[in-house]
Amino acid sequence: MTAPPTASKPTHIAIVMDGNGRWAGRRHRPRSFGHRAGQKAVRAAIEFCLRQGIGALTLFAFSSENWKRPEEEVGALMQLFLRALEKEVDELHEHGVRIDFIGDLAAFAPELRTRMAESAAKTAANAALRLNIAVNYGGRWDIVQAARRAAVEAAAGRLDPERLDEAALAPFFCLADLPPVDLFIRTGGEQRISNFLLWQTAYSELYFTDVLWPDVDAGVLEQALDAFARRDRRFGQTPSQARRAG
Ligand code: FPP
Repeated sequence: MTAPPTASKPTHIAIVMDGNGRWAGRRHRPRSFGHRAGQKAVRAAIEFCLRQGIGALTLFAFSSENWKRPEEEVGALMQLFLRALEKEVDELHEHGVRIDFIGDLAAFAPELRTRMAESAAKTAANAALRLNIAVNYGGRWDIVQAARRAAVEAAAGRLDPERLDEAALAPFFCLADLPPVDLFIRTGGEQRISNFLLWQTAYSELYFTDVLWPDVDAGVLEQALDAFARRDRRFGQTPSQARRAG
């Protein structure tokens, strides 16, 4: 396998936006207050990527495990997503942002699903930034849906199971049309992947910060980019091989 070229700037960033609840708790406010504040940080991250010329940003907005949260919090998050789509899509469209949603969308209310589909359709031709919002997403779910789709192709005789290798399976994953994630950021102090993009982060650089998501601004993201630029990405090769490939 040839190593992908190394670059000092990521082309694809993925973020686990953690810490909204704690941010609200410190202010003696309900968790939903933290999620609303988190929306501002989402805007800051999008503006940052547009300014930096980063091609793709994938945000973990709602995991398949988040349904276990109190009904009131889940309801508030759904309302927030709906309002955000109503409020922000036109401006994102003007800035050339293409919005996409990944995850098991069938679980959402029809109104929200329609909004998601409309936002994706409206912005489909934009190319300044690809913004992927992961909702009811889980990395294991993604692996299962990719395997299921490959199995359907095999059963129909369009794919030879004996030839199923990484390259043949890759197109069935979410985000298959994008480069893999270069930089994986998690805010809020925890250092884990929490079933986010598992396949797509095989060679990502991981960056963890204690900053709670609502406090994230361009300065915090700048620090993540600085850390990324100092990483030595070798993709399994020796340092001298990787230098030659880069
Ligand atoms: C994790 O923090 C955050 C979430 C589960 C929701 C993320 C949602 C937003 C940032 C709102 C805006 C998003 C969009 C796409 C419009 P947490 O609640 O687990 O925080 P904690 O770890 O402090 O409890």
